[in-house]
Amino acid sequence: MTEMEFKEKLSKLESIINEHKNQQGALMPVLNETQELFGYLPEEAQKRISEELDISMAEIYGVATFYSRFTLKPRGKHTIGVCLGTACYVKNAQEIIDRIKKEIKISAGETTDDGLFTLEATRCIGCCGLAPVMTVGEDVYGKIVPEDVTDIIKKYQG
Ligand code: FES
Repeated sequence: MTEMEFKEKLSKLESIINEHKNQQGALMPVLNETQELFGYLPEEAQKRISEELDISMAEIYGVATFYSRFTLKPRGKHTIGVCLGTACYVKNAQEIIDRIKKEIKISAGETTDDGLFTLEATRCIGCCGLAPVMTVGEDVYGKIVPEDVTDIIKKYQG
């Protein structure tokens, strides 16, 4: 996003804050809408929320890191999800995630420096018959083994 776009979003944030300002428990709806607006919770936005709602930065950080729907950094172009639900877990999903971590050199919850991938460990996504399951954006890869990871990732690197 350009600096101009960022500034425009910051002014939209002002109206989001004003809309919720006098309401009890304003923080969650404001953070939700901020996440939607920017795609993450930029520090500048957190500062404004902190000032306007009179909530400490520490409290905002606590909420932002507790709920997985909030991210403090922009998400990558592709989100890689590895299901760690029971069915996938017993079929070695942990090995899949370890292989991905090695391959793109980030941990779960992080984004690669080139902005291409964000890695997430997820709960059951309802495809247990395909366990272990890995997703890249909307694409679902089932019954995979760690050796498949390199080729799957390659498809999105070009
Ligand atoms: S446990 Fe992984 S899809 Fe259900």
